[in-house]
Amino acid sequence: MKQRTRTKILIVDDLQENLLAMEALLEQSDLDLLLARSGRQALELLLTNDVALALVDVQMPEMDGFELAELMRGAERTRNVPIIFVTAGMQDRYPVFKGYDAGAVDFLFKPVEPRILKHKVATFCQLYRQRQEVLDTLRLNEELMAVVGHDLRNPLGVILMTAATLATRNEDPSLVKAASRLQASGKRILRIIDDLFDLSKARLSGGIPVELAPMSLLSVAKKTIAELQLTHPQRTIELHAEGNPEGEWDGGRLEQVFSNLLGNALHHGTTTDAILVTLSGDESDAIISVKNGGAIPEEVLPHIFEPFHSGRERRKRGEGLGLGLYIVQQIVNAHGGIVQVRSSATEGTTTFTIKLPRRATRIGASLGSMPADFSAE
Ligand SMILES: Nc1ncnc2c1ncn2[C@@H]1O[C@H](COP(=O)(O)OP(=O)(O)OP(=O)(O)O)[C@@H](O)[C@H]1O
Ligand SMILES: [Mg+2]
Repeated sequence: MKQRTRTKILIVDDLQENLLAMEALLEQSDLDLLLARSGRQALELLLTNDVALALVDVQMPEMDGFELAELMRGAERTRNVPIIFVTAGMQDRYPVFKGYDAGAVDFLFKPVEPRILKHKVATFCQLYRQRQEVLDTLRLNEELMAVVGHDLRNPLGVILMTAATLATRNEDPSLVKAASRLQASGKRILRIIDDLFDLSKARLSGGIPVELAPMSLLSVAKKTIAELQLTHPQRTIELHAEGNPEGEWDGGRLEQVFSNLLGNALHHGTTTDAILVTLSGDESDAIISVKNGGAIPEEVLPHIFEPFHSGRERRKRGEGLGLGLYIVQQIVNAHGGIVQVRSSATEGTTTFTIKLPRRATRIGASLGSMPADFSAE
């Protein structure tokens, strides 16, 4: 782990002797003390320094402590800095400070009791360091996923190509079979890498990025169905399309959506019933629905779009990670759309329905606010 810089705290007081007294009390600890004689000076210091805590005198000329605190709460950079107000009297204890609810606030009363001051400062600094450690871990995770995504994909590509060559240039049926097993396992590893990569992107960057271009849902649906029929020739997948299938979407990402939903229908649905894919919609939205036989247990349904929820206590060998539907929802939300599931025990069917605006002008604004809708009967 990288060398951490000393934790900084800000002390604001208009009286030099108070600043010196605070400095003397906190001097022996491993802190960098930033001293400000006014609210304005404090704001200047906050522009270039990340601080674990601000100790703010309430009574100061020009800008008082509460005004400074309100300005700090109003700025993104300083919004979450905990503030300890240092105040002379009890009368201004729960004052007009509007940002009270917005973050950690505490009070110290003059004359300041050194033991209490040290204890409070130590507690806030410890919280700050823990938060920094969590952020470091997240950053490391992001770097790790980038390495996994890039450095594992390349050798895996070589393995897959070699397996494909072996499968086509060999007469021996047992070798051809072995080569296709290699290919299937390699593709599975590739999918796991891609899914983990998407999960990390969605979690750390606030969503999966999409690149919009004019495209047709019909061609993506046909392509995905044709690919899956090759590997599942005994299953029936029907496609019904009506109305306009065109819109501005991310073709690669929608292929991922179809392949996840259809993959689920093939793996988790009944093997005897046909899978029904329907494309419809109106002028503003396109509707995609995928229906299969078999219901999702009622207790699993509310968590179905959460990552790593596969509906079983322990996954058996060869089963999925439980990321597919989470990624589907992230992709749909990034297009400004919604995904819903309806599963009926009495009918014995499960239907996933996606509503996609044809032009996703609401991207970003809609992110995160879309309901993870579901219904069970
Ligand atoms: N069409 C469906 N019919 C019945 N059950 C389903 C269907 N789709 C999903 N499920 C249930 O929801 C769970 C979560 O699905 P999800 O696609 O997120 O994960 P997964 O398929 O288990 O793994 P992964 O997609 O990561 O390979 C599945 O394990 C299954 O129990
Ligand atoms: Mg799945």
